[in-house]
Amino acid sequence: MTKAVSGFSKLSKEEKIHWITTNHFSNPEQAAQEIKKYWNSDSDLQKLHDEFIENTISNFYLPLGVAPNFLINGKNYTIPMAIEESSVVAAASKAAKFWSNRGGFKATVISSEKIGQVHFIYKGDTKKLKTFFTTIKPKFFTDTESITKNMQKRGGGILEIELKDKTAELEDYFQLHVTFETKDSMGANFINSCLEQFAKTLKEEAKTFELFSEEEQNIQVVMSILSNYVPNCIVRAEVSCPVTDLKEDKHISQEEFAEKFIRAVKIAEIEPYRAVTHNKGIMNGIDAVVLATGNDFRAVEAGVHAYAARNGKYSSLSHAKVQDGIFTFWMEIPLALGTVGGLTGLHPLVKMSLQMLGNPSAHELMQIVAVAGLAQNFAALRSLTTTGIQQGHMKMHLMNILNQFNASEQERKEVVKHFEKHTVSHSAVVDYLQTIRK
Ligand code: MEV
Repeated sequence: MTKAVSGFSKLSKEEKIHWITTNHFSNPEQAAQEIKKYWNSDSDLQKLHDEFIENTISNFYLPLGVAPNFLINGKNYTIPMAIEESSVVAAASKAAKFWSNRGGFKATVISSEKIGQVHFIYKGDTKKLKTFFTTIKPKFFTDTESITKNMQKRGGGILEIELKDKTAELEDYFQLHVTFETKDSMGANFINSCLEQFAKTLKEEAKTFELFSEEEQNIQVVMSILSNYVPNCIVRAEVSCPVTDLKEDKHISQEEFAEKFIRAVKIAEIEPYRAVTHNKGIMNGIDAVVLATGNDFRAVEAGVHAYAARNGKYSSLSHAKVQDGIFTFWMEIPLALGTVGGLTGLHPLVKMSLQMLGNPSAHELMQIVAVAGLAQNFAALRSLTTTGIQQGHMKMHLMNILNQFNASEQERKEVVKHFEKHTVSHSAVVDYLQTIRK
């Protein structure tokens, strides 16, 4: 067993690698070589990446792909996607092409408010706390002026501060529930800085509030933090066309396709086991663009899934219908994204991804990301309700299998040609490779 290490973060990068390789690998030299193989030869670029986090030893590559032909609100986009799952970019591109011939995607930002909370304990008379809150409320704004000045210039800032009584659920528990507008930044640092100042103001002002008893003056702040639940930061993405234009597959009529597709969505609306996978497919598209544009995909994931369960039962994020002969497929989701601040100005490939999208505002990026999710969902449901998912998946996975077996260029060509007419499975590919190798 490896011994615990102290002061690890203080070691140099070389020392860290030495410690790791000698403690965790049977061939330390080879392991160190492997780790360093992924270093960038441009030392400044490497340093930039090293400093994103603590204890960096190397870079972890993910493919950056692009899905062209996304027609969104009449504008054509090439969408960057950072993802390892083999079929995602291909599926997005296919869905983009399909809808670009049918009017493209429509997207609208419905709202863009973010939430932060100061959670605190107050032991005393609730009426007095309410009076205290109303009295000091202007001070919350004045005490945060130095933080909010720049944000206000950009049209954002603190929208509302509310006092919430949560004592019915937890003894003596109250909140400052604050609504923010953060414009083009995701706003996490801005929100958290404001909240920590509110917490200080709250505690300080309570100490001298005349109506409070000694116990009431002693407000205990538990924590101050933004919420990743953003049900008022919503974007809608939609596609629609006459059912008669849905023709794509020779084995199935347009009407039958629409009917099967809508039923598949209905199943995800009522059946949580299916809804989770259905929404996972949506997140395949969303996360890939969120990651490529330097946004926080964990925050987005947490917020989206909480939203999918907002009515007390986990359900589909997307919906579909046919009305008066028109097929409509749409989704409304919460997305807290930024196009300034954070990694957006630092990571060279994030900067390139944003350039590729025409340096969008946060609102425009919300629209693009939502569309990528809807396109992904459309592609998945189209495969699932017609050919099944494995045909496309395994075709894409073929390359991974060939790489695993170090196939030569010639072998690749032969295998790909063979599997144009045969069903791909791991064992079938391995068997065929062995046959041609004999
Ligand atoms: C796989 O990554 C995503 C799907 O399972 C989504 C779905 O089932 O809708 C294909």
